[in-house]
Amino acid sequence: MFPDVDRVLIHRDEIARRVDELAARIVTDLRAETAGEEEPRIVLVPILTGSIVFLADLIRRLPLKFRIDVVAVSSYPGKSVESKGVKIRSELPTNLRGAHVLVVDDILDSGQTLQIVRDLIREQRPASLRLCVALEKQMPEEERRITADYVGFSIPNLFVVGYGLDFNGFYRNHPDVVTLKRDAMQ
Ligand code: IMP
Ligand code: MG
Repeated sequence: MFPDVDRVLIHRDEIARRVDELAARIVTDLRAETAGEEEPRIVLVPILTGSIVFLADLIRRLPLKFRIDVVAVSSYPGKSVESKGVKIRSELPTNLRGAHVLVVDDILDSGQTLQIVRDLIREQRPASLRLCVALEKQMPEEERRITADYVGFSIPNLFVVGYGLDFNGFYRNHPDVVTLKRDAMQ
């Protein structure tokens, strides 16, 4: 079904176990953070499109009362394996003042995307703001512009697809995190 796949980097079962762990930590942290608040507002802000699969898995493991307010971001110009710049393609959620916000994305690479989204949300003065990513690419500490509070897996600096991540819009539906054959990325 996926002849373009080179190898499986993270299998779906391993992902499921890890999402359990992340969800448990997030629940503990949000409960602690909102303890004593009469009507805490929790808002998840997923970054489209890459986060959709991770988001679907994560939210069903969070037995909390929260809203979901998406933001659409695209990297440009055109090149699929590198992000050269970031463009916000949708309105940002408004009214996050005083809310407990959890931003959810597929992967933290250069950090450009998350940095921009985080800074824009910060301007609204949320009560708390945390970042959660399914994957993070390993890189020297001094090159990292931003760190996530919750990281599913730290992976080598390879281009991966599946579990929501795409190449030219394809392969998001692969259940595992995989690499592609070289000739599939021409
Ligand atoms: P950053 O802004 O450089 O951190 O890039 C983050 C965005 O680039 C992610 O949300 C992905 O959409 C995309 N991206 C980065 N690395 C990969 C990859 O290995 N495969 C697929 N998409 C990636
Ligand atoms: Mg993305």
